[in-house]
Amino acid sequence: MSSANLAAAQKSAGGFVVKISGISALAGLLFGYDTGVISGAVLFVREDFSLSDRQEEIVVSAVLLGAMIGAAIGGRLADRFGRRSVLIQVAFLFTLGAIGTALAPDTTWLGIGRIVVGIAIGIASFTAPLYISEISPADVRGKLVSLNQLMITIGILVSYLADYALSGSRGWRLMFGLAAIPALILLVGLLFVPESPRWFVRQNLRDRARQVLSRIRRPEEIEPEISDIESSLTQQEGGWHELFSSNLRPALIIGIGLAIFQQFTGINTVIYYAPTIFQLAGLQSHSAAILATAGVGLVNVILTVVALELLDRLGRRPLLLYGLLGMIVSLGLLGIGFMKENPTPALAWVSVICVMAYVACFAISLGPIFWLMIAEIYPLKIRSRAMGLATMANWGANLLVALTFLSLLRLLGRPLTFWLYAFVGVICWIFVLRLVPETKGKTLEQIEAAWRSRDM
Ligand code: BGC
Repeated sequence: MSSANLAAAQKSAGGFVVKISGISALAGLLFGYDTGVISGAVLFVREDFSLSDRQEEIVVSAVLLGAMIGAAIGGRLADRFGRRSVLIQVAFLFTLGAIGTALAPDTTWLGIGRIVVGIAIGIASFTAPLYISEISPADVRGKLVSLNQLMITIGILVSYLADYALSGSRGWRLMFGLAAIPALILLVGLLFVPESPRWFVRQNLRDRARQVLSRIRRPEEIEPEISDIESSLTQQEGGWHELFSSNLRPALIIGIGLAIFQQFTGINTVIYYAPTIFQLAGLQSHSAAILATAGVGLVNVILTVVALELLDRLGRRPLLLYGLLGMIVSLGLLGIGFMKENPTPALAWVSVICVMAYVACFAISLGPIFWLMIAEIYPLKIRSRAMGLATMANWGANLLVALTFLSLLRLLGRPLTFWLYAFVGVICWIFVLRLVPETKGKTLEQIEAAWRSRDM
C-alpha cells in the first residue's frame, strides 16, 4: 500500500485495524512461500532421495492434498474456537511443518511434513480473509482483505528468490526451513490481535465484542454495528441446508464457481511451471528462463498493489470483467505464439510478454477477488463453513490443474492447451457478468440482507 493511501486507510479504519490485518495477512505470506518453494527444492530432493517420477509427483502435490484436508476441517474449527485461535494453531502447524520438512531423513517423512504444511495452508487460506473481513469497516474492506493476496504474491516471489539464492549450495532443507521465520512472527504477532467481534456476538459474548469494537471503531459506531450483527443473526438458521435454500443458493454457486474458475483459467501452470513454459516458448538459456520467472513474480506483486487501490473505488465487478478479458486475450495470443515449432528469439520474448500480461490481469481480478468475495457473501452463522467448502473446491481444482498440465501439453499440444484455459476464461466472464454481485461499500450485514430480499 502506498504511504498516502495507508494513511487514508488508517484515518478511516483506524491504525489498529490496519496493523492487525497486516499481522493476519502474514498467513498469506506462508501460503505463497510454501506453495512456491517446491519448484526449486524438488530438483535437489529428487537427486538426494533418488525419487521416482511417482514419488516426485507425491512430494510436489502433497501440499495441495493437505490444503484440501485443511479447508475441509477448518470451517468447523473457526466456528468452534474462533478465528484468532485457529490462526494461532495454524501458525504452530506452519512452524512445525517448516522444521519437520527441513529435517526430513527420507521421502515418507518429507511427504508427511508437506501434508502438515498443506493442512496449515488450507486452513489459513480462508481463515485470514475471513478474520480480516469481519474486523474491517465496509469502505476499506476490499483493500484490507486483499492484503492477504498481496502477501501470497510476496511469498511466491520470496520463494523464487530463496530457491535461486540457495540452489548453488543445493540447500533444499534451508529452502523449506526458512518458512519457520515468518511462521514464528505470525505466532507472536497474533498474541496482540483481538478475536473477531462478529464471532463474539455469535457466541453471545456481547460485552467482549463491544470491547474489541471499541479498539477498531469510533465510539458512535459500536452500538449500531452490534445491533446490525444481532438482527442479522436472528434471520439466520445456521445449518448447511440454509446454504442450499433458494435465497442463498446463488452465493453457494458463486463461491464454488469462482473457486474453480480461479484455478481452471490456468494461473498455477505459470506460477508452478514458469521456467518450463519459457523454455517451451523458445528461451534457450537457463538463466533467461529464471530471470523471466522472477519477472512473473514481480509483476504479480506490483499489480496486486494496484488492485488493492482499485477494489474499493471501482468495485469488484469491473475489475473482474476487465481483468478476465485481459487474461483471455493474452492466453489466446500465447497460444498463437506457440503455433510455430521453432520460435525466433523475438517471438520468444513476445510469448514472455503475453505470460506477464496474463499474470498482471489475474492479479487485478480473479487473484484477490475470489478470496475477497467468499469472505463477503455468506451470512455469519455459516460463513466459515461455506468459505471452507469454496476453499476446498479451489485446492481440489488447483491439484487437478497441477496434475494434468504436462499431460495436456503432450495430448493437445501447446496452442490448444492454452486456448483451453482461455475458453474457460470466456465461460467465467459470462458467469461473472450474469451472477456475481457488486459488494463494494456494503457492510457484511447489508450484503446478507440483499440475498434475503433478492436484491443481488
Ligand atoms: C491463488 C493461488 C495462486 C496465487 C498466485 C491465489 O489467489 O489461490 O492458487 O498461486 O493466487 O498469485
